[in-house]
Amino acid sequence: MQKFIWSEKYEMGITHLDSQHQYMFGLANEIVRLVNKGANTRELTEVIESLVEYVQLHFDAEERAMEKCGYPGLDEHRQQHVDLTQKLFRLGLGQPSTSQALELTKLVIHWMQHHIMDSDMDFGMFIKDRSNTS
Ligand SMILES: [Fe+2]
Repeated sequence: MQKFIWSEKYEMGITHLDSQHQYMFGLANEIVRLVNKGANTRELTEVIESLVEYVQLHFDAEERAMEKCGYPGLDEHRQQHVDLTQKLFRLGLGQPSTSQALELTKLVIHWMQHHIMDSDMDFGMFIKDRSNTS
């Protein structure tokens, strides 16, 4: 399986959140690397746990940033985070097989590509507009 390529188009202009997104891509690529080299379940489980944990940490950070500046789309955005979290826990619990690990990785990456380009960008624009008018 091919690694996922990070691109500047995913940057929303909020440095710490952009770095977190990039780090999540990195963890997903680490899972791809392990799958490609035929890693065992224990190795895969470790990285999957790190990814799932990091996703939670990132969602918290993003929601805190939204709360802090009174972003009106927070509730809807939080719901999208909850939806992915539930899916991840369903797939990643226990000791996932190689195919489950790949499914989880693809889910995270595809979800992120859409979520960042659509929902996170909207927040980025909100922050930009706010700093232009203040
Ligand atoms: Fe988000």
